[in-house]
Amino acid sequence: MVDVLLGLQWGDEGKGKIVDFFAPQYDIIARFQGGPNAGHTLYIKGEKIVLHQIPSGIFHENTVNLIGNGVVLDAVTLKKEYDKVAAFGVDGKKNLFISERTHLILPTHRALDKASELSKGNEKIGSTLKGIGPAYMDKTGRNGLRVGDLLDKNFTTQYIKLRLKHQRLLDSFGFNEDISEWEEEFFEAIEFMRSLKIVNGEYFINEKIASGKKVLAEGAQGSMLDVDFGTFPFVTSSNTISAGVCTGLGVAPQKIKDVIGVSKAYCTRVGSGPFPTELHDETGERLRKIGNEFGATTGRPRRCGWIDLVALNFACMVNGVTKIVMTKSDVLDAFEELSVCTSYGIEGKEEKSVPYQLNKVNIDPTYKKFNGWMTDISKIKQHADLPAAMKVYIDFINQYLGVPVTHISNGPERDQLITV
Ligand code: GDP
Ligand code: IMO
Ligand code: MG
Repeated sequence: MVDVLLGLQWGDEGKGKIVDFFAPQYDIIARFQGGPNAGHTLYIKGEKIVLHQIPSGIFHENTVNLIGNGVVLDAVTLKKEYDKVAAFGVDGKKNLFISERTHLILPTHRALDKASELSKGNEKIGSTLKGIGPAYMDKTGRNGLRVGDLLDKNFTTQYIKLRLKHQRLLDSFGFNEDISEWEEEFFEAIEFMRSLKIVNGEYFINEKIASGKKVLAEGAQGSMLDVDFGTFPFVTSSNTISAGVCTGLGVAPQKIKDVIGVSKAYCTRVGSGPFPTELHDETGERLRKIGNEFGATTGRPRRCGWIDLVALNFACMVNGVTKIVMTKSDVLDAFEELSVCTSYGIEGKEEKSVPYQLNKVNIDPTYKKFNGWMTDISKIKQHADLPAAMKVYIDFINQYLGVPVTHISNGPERDQLITV
């Protein structure tokens, strides 16, 4: 049996914390897409750690962590992260497994990402510059190198061949930065990766499922950054929605049970692209400050705004969400009035669906206003103790989406999670 946990907005919904919380209920935590563009923050014994490549179940001794074939893997980031979790006393070699079909991010992919963004000028995607787009292009373009290739004695020859091809592309962009340091680090990290558990991911996971083990598939990014259904072209390069689990791990759709969608009680976005409920005023500034909305991977300030139920409803539809976890609700504690976007005004018409190209239309969001709860909720443990005004806010979201909010996160720590 497989449950899925993924982001319903533009990423950074708090997935890492929630996966870490649910991990004891599962035998395996598996990443199925994305790469080091992800930054999943966990608090372990009061200390903060951000994971980019390793699944968020790594701090649980009895949990197997799998990096699935749908991921793109940066060996250098992985090695650094491995050392970081080792400092917490975790032996990554024991319960970290990597699919041999996982594609590798090469130093030239990072260079190509940078060159491509530079060439776009004002129209840049706002990529994390981790080489995600170019690595997935080499996957679908059938050129990429995979983790299994590391074990082939011709790996370096294959690498040089692809590097030459990338060099021609870099030349055409006029990109001439020296990347020899990156390459040195890359080959060191590759050597380290050879000592890890490289497996046939699809047999590995299906055998576990057949023997009754429970899997939680951990999403990266968010549904509105999905390459097919997000705000294209301002998206990432993978399928972040639940369908990505089947191709990203090799599990059949009927094996999937719950799809747990994570959403903030408001909304953020980092990078370029449309964001209908973005606040350019003091309220947006307050959300950023109280919510500490700065990127976990790049440190960039996140754009902030009200919760957008039109976009959330769309995300629930394309993912088949069965449960919602609402995070960062404590950030709204001191707001006297809250707004919830219930429809988009487009050319004078009221729309409840997400248009084909959000960035090409002028959207005037319609908001329903709610009273804030003006109470510190961060220490509350029981649903019954939540302020009445907050219950009204959440009930409305429940009703609108037709999916229950089953958990409310009221702080960054592991135990700050209320079951509804
Ligand atoms: P992810 O990429 O979805 O895992 O999310 P990030 O880690 O990038 O960003 C979420 C941020 O919010 C992190 O700094 C978390 O520590 C923090 N966080 C998560 N849940 C809560 C919450 O309920 N309240 C508060 N105040 N912070 C939270
Ligand atoms: P987690 O897993 C938020 C955004 C980037 C950029 C766009 C494309 O922590 O939620 P890419 O590097 O993929 O080419 O960037 O997607 N982006 C994220 N935003 N959280 C993430 O991951 C993101 N990963 C990518 O800012 O706008
Ligand atoms: Mg993040």
